[in-house]
Amino acid sequence: MTNKLLLEVENLKTQLPLDEGLLKAVDGVSFSINRGETMGLVGESGCGKSMTVQTIMRIAPNFAEISGRVSFTRPSGDVVDLTKLDPYGSEIRSIRGGEIAMIFQEPMTSFSPLHTIGNQIVEAIRLHRSVDKKQAREIAIDMLDRVGLSNPRQRFGEYPHLLSGGMRQRAMIAMALSCEPSLLIADEPTTALDVTVQAQVLKLMRDLQAEFGMSILYITHDLGVIARTVDYVAVMYLGQVVEYTDVDSLFHNPKHPYTKALLKSIPKIGRKTRNRLESIQGSVPVPINRPPGCGFFPRCPVAIKGLCDRVDPPLVQVDGEHDAACFLYPEVVAAAGETTPEGIQHGPA
Ligand SMILES: Nc1ncnc2c1ncn2[C@@H]1O[C@H](COP(=O)(O)OP(=O)(O)O)[C@@H](O)[C@H]1O
Ligand SMILES: [Mg+2]
Repeated sequence: MTNKLLLEVENLKTQLPLDEGLLKAVDGVSFSINRGETMGLVGESGCGKSMTVQTIMRIAPNFAEISGRVSFTRPSGDVVDLTKLDPYGSEIRSIRGGEIAMIFQEPMTSFSPLHTIGNQIVEAIRLHRSVDKKQAREIAIDMLDRVGLSNPRQRFGEYPHLLSGGMRQRAMIAMALSCEPSLLIADEPTTALDVTVQAQVLKLMRDLQAEFGMSILYITHDLGVIARTVDYVAVMYLGQVVEYTDVDSLFHNPKHPYTKALLKSIPKIGRKTRNRLESIQGSVPVPINRPPGCGFFPRCPVAIKGLCDRVDPPLVQVDGEHDAACFLYPEVVAAAGETTPEGIQHGPA
């Protein structure tokens, strides 16, 4: 296959009309993923990560208003815009779970407590691959083995609640990969696990990616996890991507004040408490009736008064393949058709 691009998200918006007003959960998000690459979506809780992937998968709430484009290249080579599909139609159902698989923080949302792990994996395989029951069973047992479940034949017949959290997570990964997806979306898959198990699951995902060659969209609020897991990163804030670059540039040369604050909040060895974003004031507001200007303005230590409180900075290239949405960079000021005020006054509102 010559086409390297697997998924291209362009100006994606997901708006929820609520009694309180229009909630802009996803507010113009763009990024792309090539074959075999891993892309990380990071940001604090509430910044729109899950809603972004739910919109891509067409499992957002049915009252959500969706616009923009999500171009996905199917194994046949056909490119489909997932936002245009009927969310209950046959095309999205053959893509979802088959060509794009998903794993979550809580495996019990993937597994029904009423059926054995093996039968659920077999059912998923039979839905997406043309194999008979016996073959599906062998594929399932093989996958349970490959994700590191001891005694996979016995595990096949067990109910999900009998497994530990880490083992359930492995079983969910087995189910997701048993259909040989070209894209695996992982939404905080290790957040509920303790640090040791988390490291094991991350290693497992890296190994399986090397083996199967799928792309991964990895979602986390934890930049520490991103460093060891992904090639490219999009940092989200209030439903928007505020910084987008490769993982080395993000860690060694962060551009956006929000990213810098996130980096400072990564727990260090020897530090007792895991202080969430100690360096940023306040928390992510709910994106309803959002005031004009940069969404990060009220929390930003270096905001430019008279500009950042008035205009929402666009995401543009500021250094090589490094995009940022921040008026500290002249490229962003120019792209917005603005000029930096004389005698800059930095600081939040
Ligand atoms: N079903 C829903 N109804 C109303 N608001 C929602 C719903 N789902 C998510 N939201 C809101 O949308 C925003 C983004 O949420 P989400 O995508 O879950 O964030 P994240 O995954 O980054 O923590 C938040 O403000 C959240 O409260
Ligand atoms: Mg989430």
